[in-house]
This record gives sequence, structure tokens and C-alpha cells, in this order.
Amino acid sequence: MLNRILTIEIVRVTEAAAIAAARLRGRGNEQDADQVAVDAMRTALNHIEMDGTVVIGEGERDEAPMLYIGEKVGTGKGDKIDIALDPLEGTTLTAKAMPNAMAVIAMAEGGSLLHSPDCYMDKIAIGGGYPEGIVDLDAPAQENVKNLAEAKGVPVSEITACILDRPRHADLIAACREAGVAIRLISDGDVAGVIHTANPSDTGIDIYMGVGGAPEGVLAAAALRCIGGQMQGRLVLKKPEERERARKMGMSDPDRKFSMTEMASGDVIFASTGVTDGSMLPGVRFEKGALTTHTVVMRSATGTVRWIKNRRKAP
Ligand code: FBP
Repeated sequence: MLNRILTIEIVRVTEAAAIAAARLRGRGNEQDADQVAVDAMRTALNHIEMDGTVVIGEGERDEAPMLYIGEKVGTGKGDKIDIALDPLEGTTLTAKAMPNAMAVIAMAEGGSLLHSPDCYMDKIAIGGGYPEGIVDLDAPAQENVKNLAEAKGVPVSEITACILDRPRHADLIAACREAGVAIRLISDGDVAGVIHTANPSDTGIDIYMGVGGAPEGVLAAAALRCIGGQMQGRLVLKKPEERERARKMGMSDPDRKFSMTEMASGDVIFASTGVTDGSMLPGVRFEKGALTTHTVVMRSATGTVRWIKNRRKAP
């Protein structure tokens, strides 16, 4: 089990990243916004007493100066912790001051998070309370939405799917439209897209489908483990060297489908702080001498979901 003190420590980490990135909202500079979030998250992580290892990070050692996969974080003392992070989920959203950018992190007992390369992942997710296996990554979209509608007791026309608005999803979108499903197209930010399936009565989203980042897939699986739901993911590996990279990271069969618990097992904590206002969290508010952040922090062992509004003196 994780030390429960981490559920508050983790909030300081996403708050720090979100505040740093929020100062660069709407400046048209994705790279700088990402870099300040990375730096702030790393500094905050290194204050925590743990023997942490970044397993999902900002890329690989040679290409990412900080928070790369394999980087050690924390004081080095204490429990072994696996860390998946995205200091700025929604770099473009931040640069354009558009809704839904967040700072995101998950922590789990060492060896509990999927060690995935920074590639794409095909994903499907629904919330909790449905019979196991009613949707499947390998089933046609029409079948998945039909099964979901039946389990929910509504016509397919009352199902809403969340899909990233990308040309690669043209066939998926066409299939959903033909089935009669409503589609919420999002420009970015599929971690929130997946999380939204856990609460369809508030978010209006019943199912998430499509290809997004694999790091975001593991982070979303960690969140869904805490709040309940079903998710599957499969890496999209186009070149042999990508497959080789995945094997080197410990995947014996990188082409297989991963379940939610294979992506995030054991005791998991997930936290996210809003950078810009979004469907999940308000963004950082700056006022004279003070600032306010909004964070959600969840833990799988207890199923606790805490919404934390933090008002503090601005430095
Ligand atoms: P970044 O903040 O790293 O740019 O990620 C935003 C995002 O929309 C993710 O939520 C999503 O998984 C991924 O990008 C999709 O990748 P792409 O923009 O290449 O389709």
C-alpha cells in the first residue's frame, strides 16, 4: 500500500506545474509552457520522501532534459514508487488559452504502472457499473456502442462518444455516425476525455474511443482505476524500431491489448490541477497578491476522490 501522505504531497506537485504553465497561457509558445511545467513538477517531486522512478515521462533520456523515462525523483529515501506524469496535458490548449489544459500525475507502488514508450495508443473506455467486457477494442465501434446502449437501457441515439478530432479518426467517426451515436469531438486532452466516461450524467460522455498518446493512456487508466470503469489500450507501433523500443522497456508482446489493470495495478494515486478552465477543473486564477488552484486527487485503494480548492499568497 502507498503511504497515504502521498495523496497530499501529489497535489503540491500538480499545483506547482499548473501554476507555472498558467503564467504562459495564451502566449503562443507551447514549448516554453511545457518546459516551465516540467521544471516546476520536477522541483516539487524532489521534495517528496520516496524512491521514485519516472516510468511515463517527457520522453526518453537523450531527447528530454528532464523527467525522462527512467529518471529518479524524490529524496531517494522511502518507498519505491512508479510515476507517470504529464506536467502539461494540453500544450497547444495552453499556448492558445483554450479550455481543458491540466497538469497530470499518477503514482503507484514500484512495478505497478505499464512502462510504455512515448508512442500512440488505441484506446476504449467506459465508466463503472456496466457488466465486464461489454466493450472491446477489437470489436467494431457499432457493436460497442450498441452493447453499451443496451447495458444502459437507452437507444444508441442517446449515447455520446468522445473522440479526438483528428483525420486518423475519419472511419471511426463515420461508423459512430452511422450507428446514430452523438460525438463530442475534442481538439486535445484525452486524459479528461477518458475520465469523463466515469460520470456520464454530469459530463454527457458515455464512451471514449480512438488513438491518442500512450503516456496519456496509462495516466487515464490510472485515474479510471481509482474512480471505476473499464479501459483497454493497444500501442500503435508502425516501425520495427518502435516495437524494439517497447520490448527493451520490458514488454514481451508489445502488440497485445492491455487492460486497465495491466496499465495501472496495485494501489494508485492520480492527481490533476487545471491550467486553463475546463470541463473537469477550473484553471489557475491570479489576482493581486493571491492565486487559486483546483485539483482533483483520487486513490484506488479507498476509492476516495477529493476536490481541492487552494487559495494561497502569490509569490
Ligand atoms: P500534449 O499536451 O502533449 O500536446 O498532448 C495533448 C494531446 O491531445 C493528448 O491529450 C493526446 O493523447 C495527444 O495529444 C494526441 O496526440 P496528437 O495531437 O498527435 O494527435
